[in-house]
Amino acid sequence: MLGKKLVAGQKHGETRALFLGLGMVACSALMYYFIGVTIVPKYNRSIWTKESICKLMKASIKEKVYCLFNEDSGEENIFRYPCLEVQVNLTVIRQVVMLYYTEDTWTRNPKCSYIPSNLEDYTQVQKQVENITNWFRENKRFPCFYDPSREESSVILTRLYPPDGLVLTFLWPTLMMTGGIFIIILVKISQYLSVFTAPENVRGI
Ligand SMILES: *[C@@H]1O[C@H](CO)[C@@H](O)[C@H](O)[C@H]1NC(C)=O
Repeated sequence: MLGKKLVAGQKHGETRALFLGLGMVACSALMYYFIGVTIVPKYNRSIWTKESICKLMKASIKEKVYCLFNEDSGEENIFRYPCLEVQVNLTVIRQVVMLYYTEDTWTRNPKCSYIPSNLEDYTQVQKQVENITNWFRENKRFPCFYDPSREESSVILTRLYPPDGLVLTFLWPTLMMTGGIFIIILVKISQYLSVFTAPENVRGI
């Protein structure tokens, strides 16, 4: 009796562990898919791979020109922010080019060098743009990234999508996938072993 219960309990535990393992594998597969669809393209579009020194030529707010946050959205969703324009001398090629704060700035609005992070509160927005402008005026020389193929002439200040970032992004789903497969293998081994040991246990009790 006790032996049978034990075997049944073990089977129950094995099934749950198996579902946990399969769930982890399925979850990590979903995460891989999500990363592949949404994040990998951003890394592929990040063409500013080489670092150089940029010398500030101009950092000014374009008067009267306001940048729209999202031109596609309805009127009520339009946020405005002062349009900062930064031009630098990219010293490796001795050319004056437009600088963007990150890759996303370039994607979202190539007319302005900086897009404030929170666009709801206009005084905050103005303060953020002022801080950035002052930072440029105080740091006349700084490292920047450019496109070595020169297909894109602009440079960026901060790389949001460096190659090692992609490795880190894949770390969690890979760990989860490995864990899930490990659990499934353990369950299979345990089931395989119990084929030999279970009858003896039952008889022994
Ligand atoms: C850019 O910098 C280089 C090196 O410092 C200099 O020779 C060149 O004249 C500068 N170009 C401009 C347009 O200021």
